[in-house]
Amino acid sequence: MKPLLEEKELIWSAVVANVAMNRERNASGINSYEKEFRFIPADYLEKQMQTNGQASWLDLCCGSARALTQTAQVLTQKNIQQHITLKGIDLLDTFPAAADSFSCLDLEVASVTDWKPRQSYDLVTCSHGLHYLGDKLKVIAMAVAALNTKGYFVAHLDLKNVYINGAPQDVFLKKIFTQHHLHYNARTRIISCTGPQSLITGLQYLGADDQAGPNYTGQGAVNSYYTFPS
Ligand SMILES: C[S@@+](CC[C@H](N)C(=O)[O-])C[C@H]1O[C@@H](n2cnc3c(N)ncnc32)[C@H](O)[C@@H]1O
Repeated sequence: MKPLLEEKELIWSAVVANVAMNRERNASGINSYEKEFRFIPADYLEKQMQTNGQASWLDLCCGSARALTQTAQVLTQKNIQQHITLKGIDLLDTFPAAADSFSCLDLEVASVTDWKPRQSYDLVTCSHGLHYLGDKLKVIAMAVAALNTKGYFVAHLDLKNVYINGAPQDVFLKKIFTQHHLHYNARTRIISCTGPQSLITGLQYLGADDQAGPNYTGQGAVNSYYTFPS
């Protein structure tokens, strides 16, 4: 195997910057966050707003931010956009110009592996984004720490893309997740949790392999390498 890639090299990899990947998921309907996660973000946020007076959504690796922009549109039509904040982050700027017209929507070009939240959120999603990250566990830890008291985190994660001491260790990872109140569904490969968590894995990140080949999505993915510090 060739040497593992550092984060700064990984973000320029053809696998990560691949223009053919699906960055266009809708908020609901066909090819959507609703289909992936089984809820419509606008409905979830509206319910939160009715309970708490406000609501917030952080979408990590948001792609072209189509789901966020459509959600901003729905909230604006309902005239509740002033109570809700939507934040999207992606490595590449494929955001639509129309996104600027929504005061509730803030899109940022950045790598989520270095990004630090400045507030907590009612909803944190990462739809098919972790597949392309180096330190996936660091980003999951950041995401679950950024939840409000009853906030919800949901993301796709293929445990076969996480190597510990040279091999995938799904039993170990599932145990660590359970200990930290994160739920992993091996069938849907969805990781989720409710309420803020402090995820401490005890693992040291070593680097990434962008030549891992396709994972369950059929698209080339990135393997992330960890070890137990001695
Ligand atoms: C398959 S797309 C998913 C986009 C969107 N979440 C969706 O479901 O339609 C994966 C996205 O992750 C982004 N990405 C990859 N590495 C990233 C990183 N380090 N930081 C932020 N975004 C990243 C890619 O640019 C791409 O837009």
